[in-house]
Amino acid sequence: MNRAMVRKLLKGTISLGGDKSLSHRAVLLAAMASGRSVIGGVSSGADVASTCEVFRGLGVEITHSDDRTVVSSNGRTEFTPPDRDLNCGNSGTTMRLCTGIFAGSKITARLVGDESLSGRPMSRIVDPLRMMGASIDCKGEDSRAPLVIKGSPLRGISYQSPVASAQVKSALLLAGLAASGTTAITEPEKSRDHTERLLQALGCNLLVDGLTVSVEPCQTLPAFEYNVPADASTAVVFAVAASILEESEILLKNVLLNPTRTGGFEILSRMGAEISFESRHLQLGEEQGDIIVKSTELSGADSSGIATATFIDEIPILAVAAASANGETDFHNVGELRVKESDRLQGIIDLLRCYNITAVAEHDDLKVQGGEIRKIAPPDHKGDHRLAMAAEILNLKAEAKLIGGFEAIISISAPEFYPQLRAALQ
Ligand code: S3P
Repeated sequence: MNRAMVRKLLKGTISLGGDKSLSHRAVLLAAMASGRSVIGGVSSGADVASTCEVFRGLGVEITHSDDRTVVSSNGRTEFTPPDRDLNCGNSGTTMRLCTGIFAGSKITARLVGDESLSGRPMSRIVDPLRMMGASIDCKGEDSRAPLVIKGSPLRGISYQSPVASAQVKSALLLAGLAASGTTAITEPEKSRDHTERLLQALGCNLLVDGLTVSVEPCQTLPAFEYNVPADASTAVVFAVAASILEESEILLKNVLLNPTRTGGFEILSRMGAEISFESRHLQLGEEQGDIIVKSTELSGADSSGIATATFIDEIPILAVAAASANGETDFHNVGELRVKESDRLQGIIDLLRCYNITAVAEHDDLKVQGGEIRKIAPPDHKGDHRLAMAAEILNLKAEAKLIGGFEAIISISAPEFYPQLRAALQ
């Protein structure tokens, strides 16, 4: 047997790259601010690189060195009209949040994306932004990208969103900074709230009342300094790996622990995982801390009562935990998975089948039956970084070789995935 085929436990301290959602927001708020912002720990993944490239196309200077990103900008009213398409790559966060920012600007911009992003729904942001007075021309079919945004005067609205989506909420709040009057958005369930926390920390007049967030116009944002904690979603990938690979014990350093992002840990705890949190502290309104995970036998669980938005990006890797648990795990209300970077609901079912595990979608629920994880067919990541990471953890559990070749796709969110995994593998 090849040496790699018997290595199957994780030990040691793992330092992951900066949280993707927070990195996007730190960079784009710094680009909207006037002055020089310094941000530590920005994700080096391709998605955040797309956000940086979009703002470079508007004359904002962004440089990276020694884990420090310096953003120098004259502020959002001084963006230079772009002389080329602005490429959002695979990143829905880049396209949706930038559409909100550009809607009330003085420029016209054309946002394009890769094949996956060009197939994702944009009407969820375009419709409410148009209610605010935005001029957005959708060049793709059914209101899809490319999007041509012609900056125009905006007015605040009160909007009831049909989906719990931080991208929709953030697009409207960022547009609201340039609108006249109050912009309010109410969600059916609370989605991640990084935009709200950062805007408040930067002095904006923003109120949170239950599921409603409202923001007042804000002409200028101040430049700032910030350190992005480690990625909350990639942390769950390593937590699942350490839970299911016998005799593992890892320490994940300084991970983002915002309660709108920790539903994955709650589900793992319900499954019986041994997870503890240490050194919890706040930075610019965001909770962060260390996480210790020890391997243990898992049991099937039910996600009822845990808001889906708090673990939406973690479902592929939670399905891997469910696959190795005793009994069935039910994930409820996960229909949004169908419109992620791929149809993730089908992708999870197809991926688990390659490892001898049965999962089914019933309406908007996903049910995974725990069983013996054996590799019986080559997995397909379907162009989706989260499916690719899930596949590699399944390979470890199945005592199969790491594919390794999933590097490019995983680098969309976590270029540190393979180096950190290989360093911890024993
Ligand atoms: C994100 C919000 C979520 C999440 C995505 C990142 C963000 O999407 O799935 O990976 O940074 O705002 P939705 O807002 O579409 O739920």
